[in-house]
Amino acid sequence: MSKSPNILLPALGVTGIVLGGAYGTMTRSYKADEADIARAQAQAAEARLVSQEEANTDLKSQIALVQDSAKAKIAELEARPAVATSMSAPAPVRDGAMGLGREALLEEIAAWDVDVLPDGRGLPEGTGNAFDGEELFADKCAACHGDFAEGVDNWPVLAGGFDTLADEDPVKTVGSYWPHLSTVYDYVYRSMPFGEAGTLTPDETYAIVAYILFSNDLIDDEFELSHENLGAFKMPNKDGFVVDDRPEAEYAAWSVEPCMSNCKEEVTVTMRSVFLVNTPPEGGSESVMNPASVEGLPSFSSAGASFIPEAQAKPEAVVEVAAAAVEEPADEGAELIKAGEKVFKKCKACHEVGNGAKNKSGPQLNALIGRTMGSVEGFKYSNVFQAAADEGRIWDEASLTEFLAKPKSYMKGTRMSFSGLKKEGDQVAIIAYLNSFLGE
Ligand code: HEC
Ligand code: HEC
Repeated sequence: MSKSPNILLPALGVTGIVLGGAYGTMTRSYKADEADIARAQAQAAEARLVSQEEANTDLKSQIALVQDSAKAKIAELEARPAVATSMSAPAPVRDGAMGLGREALLEEIAAWDVDVLPDGRGLPEGTGNAFDGEELFADKCAACHGDFAEGVDNWPVLAGGFDTLADEDPVKTVGSYWPHLSTVYDYVYRSMPFGEAGTLTPDETYAIVAYILFSNDLIDDEFELSHENLGAFKMPNKDGFVVDDRPEAEYAAWSVEPCMSNCKEEVTVTMRSVFLVNTPPEGGSESVMNPASVEGLPSFSSAGASFIPEAQAKPEAVVEVAAAAVEEPADEGAELIKAGEKVFKKCKACHEVGNGAKNKSGPQLNALIGRTMGSVEGFKYSNVFQAAADEGRIWDEASLTEFLAKPKSYMKGTRMSFSGLKKEGDQVAIIAYLNSFLGE
């Protein structure tokens, strides 16, 4: 449509030049024969003009054709239901509705509808076994849950704990406690890996769930778990749950009318729930959730609180190590070290570095550059690291970069369950960070 001026302009331009030429010739002719020539020229020009006009008409009709078919296309698009063409289209007006929202697309519902029921309804098609699951688990889950689902530090244990449910401190795991396998599939698919929820495919999830079963000695590693048999799998603690009938059976026995007058005068707070919580802060060990103590907490009486407590300053969360790391180097270096400290979060579950760093599931990483590989006292290395130590191989920036990019290719057989740092910038940054602990 917008093309029409472009198409017409050149055509009219040609006509203009032709007319101009004829006019110029006529004004210059005084003699008769010259007038004849001029007349002939004018006739020729007129003839050309006519054929030009015909051409123009032709063009115009072609343009009209294009425009018509474009209009028809637009009309067709507009006639389609708004929902099918645009997610942000205004709501269709419906009788009795508020004119808000629109009907969800089937695809949208399917994307949300991931719940799985105990009998397996809702499972997506797929299959996987513990053999494949082991590798996935090492890659995506072991940093927190341990290579054998035994749990690193205070992160949840997923295996074992059988016969502890009646103990004072029961170990409730997928194997010992969970009544339905469908919950494991649903939970993992929906929410794990922690912080990267929604990244697993159905096949990966089946394989990982199979590996968790394998870690609990509930299947062997060839068992193919799939949407067809998951619902029928019987978990050991399936019958360990009862319907909660306490409202009918018990409440009446120990309920008393609430006291509404001459009641107890003073209530004291003896414990804060935060002391009981032992979910570790980032990375694992040693809960430092709340260093406050019971002392100094207010008491409450029927007259009101004993005093209004002043807000306590938040405890300094800065660990000494970090302070030591950033104090000296020039700004740019400090930035890099800071970035490296961030990357180190990926290692923290297994490694410590800095003042008093201890071995965890991985060796401490102080003074790493220049250190013999596999040489930390008291740490039990894999064979490949022991061999490297025997050969006297030394960590330098090049070897460390290569190792951290793909630990398992650089050190075939290493026990370090870490898939590697994918971004080059991360490797540079973490080496800068580790280098800041060379003195320790
Ligand atoms: C960064 C640490 C981290 C990673 C990696 C991780 N998880 Fe978890 N996982 C957690 C935390 C924390 C919880 C407890 C969450 C809660 O209670 O809200 C948890 C809970 C679970 C539970 C429930 C445990 C229970 O008994 O309540 C399962 C099952 C589980 N994770 C499986 C996996 C699987 C499978 C993967 C790998 C695909 C994975 N997790 C990766 C941290 C992690
Ligand atoms: C899931 C636990 C885990 C994570 C996460 C992890 N490591 Fe390791 N790391 C280990 C284990 C275990 C070893 C010992 C390997 C062996 O013996 O095969 C190791 C070994 C190492 C070594 C060799 C040390 C030596 O004494 O020769 C370096 C260097 C290292 N890790 C750096 C890192 C860095 C940097 C990160 C984070 C980017 C990281 N690791 C993440 C568990 C882990």
